[in-house]
Amino acid sequence: MQTKFTPVSGQDPNNIPYNPNATLQEQVMQSFSASKKNLGTSYIDSFFLHSPLKTHKETMIVWNAMEEIYNLSGISQLGISNCYDLATMQKLYDDATVKPSVLQNRFYQETHYDVDLRQWCLDHGVVYQSFWTLTANPNLLKSTEITDIASSKNMTPAQVLFRYLTQVGVVPLTGTTSDVHMIEDLAIFNFELSDAELDKIYKILPNSGVVLQL
Ligand SMILES: NC(=O)c1ccc[n+]([C@@H]2O[C@H](COP(=O)([O-])OP(=O)(O)OC[C@H]3O[C@@H](n4cnc5c(N)ncnc54)[C@H](OP(=O)(O)O)[C@@H]3O)[C@@H](O)[C@H]2O)c1
Repeated sequence: MQTKFTPVSGQDPNNIPYNPNATLQEQVMQSFSASKKNLGTSYIDSFFLHSPLKTHKETMIVWNAMEEIYNLSGISQLGISNCYDLATMQKLYDDATVKPSVLQNRFYQETHYDVDLRQWCLDHGVVYQSFWTLTANPNLLKSTEITDIASSKNMTPAQVLFRYLTQVGVVPLTGTTSDVHMIEDLAIFNFELSDAELDKIYKILPNSGVVLQL
């Protein structure tokens, strides 16, 4: 059960789940309560900061509020998303008392698939979660490298991409309105890609050196 605090800059101004005029710390507290209410739960496993704020100082005010909630509410982990700059991630990690356990980023060519950040995550025991994995990668899904492997295994290209990611240390997030897709998404754990197949896909995810270092 995962939810996040999104700063005012990332909110729909007509639907902010906290008082935007409150202090940052109060905003985090109100947002966390609103999330639990909306989800109908008293318990959250994983609490995220949607993205770094404009300054490191502001980011740390929010992070410290999240740490307070972590200490009081029995949350298992804190994380951050939309953090595409390694120095920003490193600074948060250095200054945090409760270290970020997860980085959740858009997985796409524009950021070179976060190769540096993914390596940093592996080195620091931080889980890397990908989103927009299918949405942002139609070319990967259409590539012969992936479609050939999919046909040979009687799987879909989406399943092969998701399976590849799990085998190189990424946790892909996805969502679906389709029963068939949901079954397919969960079935990725019923097969495995060989080293040769991993290598084929590795060649079309440029600069993705992570696979070699697992
Ligand atoms: N931190 C952030 O800023 C942020 C931003 C966006 C999303 N997220 C997170 O990421 C999660 C995933 O969302 P996403 O949009 O990024 O996911 P995605 O994997 O890029 O795309 C999901 C789309 O792919 C389709 N799909 C799912 N499984 C499929 C399959 N096996 N074969 C073919 N199509 C399939 C779904 O459509 P159908 O309904 O037709 O199956 C859905 O429209 C969200 O739930 C959210 O938690 C985070």
